[in-house]
Amino acid sequence: MKLAVLGGGGFRVPLVYGALLRDRAKPRVEEVVLYDVSRERLDVIAHVLRRLAAGHDDAPAVRVTTDLDDALRDATFVFSAIRVGGLAGRTADERVALELGLLGQETTGPGGIAFGLRTVPVAVHVAERVAALAPRAWVINFTNPAGMITEAMRGVLGDRVIGICDSPIGLIRRAAAALGLDPARVSPDYVGLNHLGWLRGLTYQGQDVLPRLLADDDALRQVEEARLLGADWVRTLEALPNEYLYYYYFTREAVASMSGRTRGEVLRGPQDRFYAAVRDRPGQALEEWNRTRRERDATYMAEARDATDAGERDAADLEAGGYEGIALALMAAISRGEPATMILNVRNGTAVPGLPADAVVEIPCAVGGSGVHALATRPLPGRFLGLVQQVKAVEQTVIEAGLTGSPRLAVAAFALHPLVDSVATASRLFDAYRARIPELAAVFPG
Ligand code: G6P
Ligand code: MN
Repeated sequence: MKLAVLGGGGFRVPLVYGALLRDRAKPRVEEVVLYDVSRERLDVIAHVLRRLAAGHDDAPAVRVTTDLDDALRDATFVFSAIRVGGLAGRTADERVALELGLLGQETTGPGGIAFGLRTVPVAVHVAERVAALAPRAWVINFTNPAGMITEAMRGVLGDRVIGICDSPIGLIRRAAAALGLDPARVSPDYVGLNHLGWLRGLTYQGQDVLPRLLADDDALRQVEEARLLGADWVRTLEALPNEYLYYYYFTREAVASMSGRTRGEVLRGPQDRFYAAVRDRPGQALEEWNRTRRERDATYMAEARDATDAGERDAADLEAGGYEGIALALMAAISRGEPATMILNVRNGTAVPGLPADAVVEIPCAVGGSGVHALATRPLPGRFLGLVQQVKAVEQTVIEAGLTGSPRLAVAAFALHPLVDSVATASRLFDAYRARIPELAAVFPG
């Protein structure tokens, strides 16, 4: 099988390749083609992969290319993890919002809208090339904002594109571990949109054990989401929210905690150092990558954890391998027909009552040789459904704005978002993003 990795010069690509190396079952990926707009970043990541492959006699072959069609032609699977505008774009996504007193986050709130507006046309172009060159390929989309981008690509590829995120499985692992249960033996009732979902139940041997977790102070303290949001609040909700819900439930505190450097600004130094170091000393590729990875993981959501005294991240979370584990599990389930249940971003259909059928939702799915089937969920109570409906309406407005280049729709998307508090501010956001991000200006030339 051929795997095309779009965003192949990205920092997390070695995680995916490492998981491929550990995967012994057949059929296997024999060829990995890394595609990126930057040849320099591709070469650096190829050095890391070469070091990872050393000592494995049947390591998948690696090739790099800056030609999208070359990467996609006859691919069996396509991983898409691109960042249009790079880290400079991410920093602008965060900064512009903060300068207007709003949440500065790459996927949640105005930053996510700016990210989406410039990414939608690129992702749809990718989808069109996949349809032309690898019509039978499965596309696994990590590109953020993942729900929105998966929904946009579905317009071309239908059920052949599936969105993934590591945050739901991370939450489920933490919840199971806090109760001393094997995460592989619990079934989660997790529902929502990407970066906007709740774990409402956790069934173990036919019984919902979530109430037991919510009632237990000591166990709750082991779950990062409960530390971030507070035991009282998760009990009131009767659910464990995805970590990104912190930005909705504690918006004011989140904004206040972002007075220093943004995440994009924090990552800039280590990232630039890593690519430069490996370019100059390819022999040190793996050491440099490991060092940078540890630094990056340890500082994830650091402001939120500091602001809430949530403390350090758990060692288990740093080792769990969420991102690449999900991608590999999904590929294995589809290509080998091994049935599995996974939380994925898929077309709603009738799974979540109250949301449009065509909306992409993040819910448990049955995966197997025939593809991915959304499992029906219990109706969402109003306190969750209202937020999900509003944010989905925003996402769909972003998609339409990105596809049509309509400034009116772009401003509407900002204005309709629950974390933007004025229509006038929405206009200012749009103007400021357009001025700061050339890739976004290109979508709205008027
Ligand atoms: C989590 C989210 C991803 C996001 C990443 C950002 O893993 O699920 O969607 O891309 O965090 O991490 P970073 O280290 O880049 O801030
Ligand atoms: Mn994610």
